[in-house]
Amino acid sequence: MVRDAERGSGVDDTSGHDGDPGSTGDVGSTGDAGSTGDVGSTGDAGSTGGPASTAQRVGAADGPGARGARPVRRGGPASSARTAVVWEVLSAVLSEADPEGRGLDVVDAGGGSGGFAVPLAEAGHRVVVVDPSPDSLAALSRRAGDAGLADRVRAVQGDATDLPTLLAGLEGLDGGVDLVLCHSVLEVVDDPAAALAAVAAVLRPGGRLSLLAPNRAAAVLARALAGRPDEAAHVLSDPAGRWGPGDGTARRWDPAALAELIVRAGLVVEQVHGVRVVADLVPSAVLDVEPGAAAALLALERALSDRPPFRDLATQLHVLAVRPA
Ligand SMILES: C[S@@+](CC[C@H](N)C(=O)[O-])C[C@H]1O[C@@H](n2cnc3c(N)ncnc32)[C@H](O)[C@@H]1O
Repeated sequence: MVRDAERGSGVDDTSGHDGDPGSTGDVGSTGDAGSTGDVGSTGDAGSTGGPASTAQRVGAADGPGARGARPVRRGGPASSARTAVVWEVLSAVLSEADPEGRGLDVVDAGGGSGGFAVPLAEAGHRVVVVDPSPDSLAALSRRAGDAGLADRVRAVQGDATDLPTLLAGLEGLDGGVDLVLCHSVLEVVDDPAAALAAVAAVLRPGGRLSLLAPNRAAAVLARALAGRPDEAAHVLSDPAGRWGPGDGTARRWDPAALAELIVRAGLVVEQVHGVRVVADLVPSAVLDVEPGAAAALLALERALSDRPPFRDLATQLHVLAVRPA
């Protein structure tokens, strides 16, 4: 059976939109970003079950990649309504930060099986994925190896809150990293403030955070649309933004609360986008049947992503923040 994550969504399997009508968002892509269906995958080459401080260059023995960028394959994060907006934001800031295309140092905290890490490596960057799950890191190894990118992707087993310790001594990262991804992870860590402080500590001055987190307002709408108005109301009043004990998402934020958390970590918010403003509300049957509907949905997602009030109703909030120089 093809899991949702494998069909190209995978950014947020626990985002609390269960009960949403026809959660879709995949715009005709296959096997692209953010596979989170790692649990239970069988480990193979490159599984990092070892000490947390050991980084393994996945499936290869050669040094850090210094090759030029390759075109990112079709079906990658740019073509999925669940990931396109984030990919575009990241592509723009990475291009600006690396005009000569030498490649930047990126850490994907909770990067799972490499849904973003591998396309970033494909674009010429050096990526360290930090994740506590050996199965996810094994899947990352396979994915990077299959793409011929093993020399640009390193896997480190560990917790986002321990980033400074985990990255200490890794080749080439002495001065801090250029970008940290923290996508669909803040809601699962024990202490979100501590995790963000750890992220800020490993950024070089001028380095960026890309944060993707579940949005409280979307859960209100999703529960109401699922015929659960009592649970929708609960999301509004619950401190963690949960709809009840059965909610698979541990926390949600609204834009102001997320910004406050980021500012407290010493970072400055530069951009806020909504991700999956409407994609989760459109039944996949419509997209499958209607010619051009998938592409139109992707275009609509792009158009709505930075426009309040639509942005503020999206399933996820994407924040780009910078560590002041
Ligand atoms: C929903 S998945 C998101 C994966 C990926 N970032 C994406 O966007 O597709 C959550 C990931 O966070 C990882 N994770 C769980 N607890 C963590 C922690 N304390 N620190 C870092 N990563 C963690 C999980 O193993 C999983 O890979």
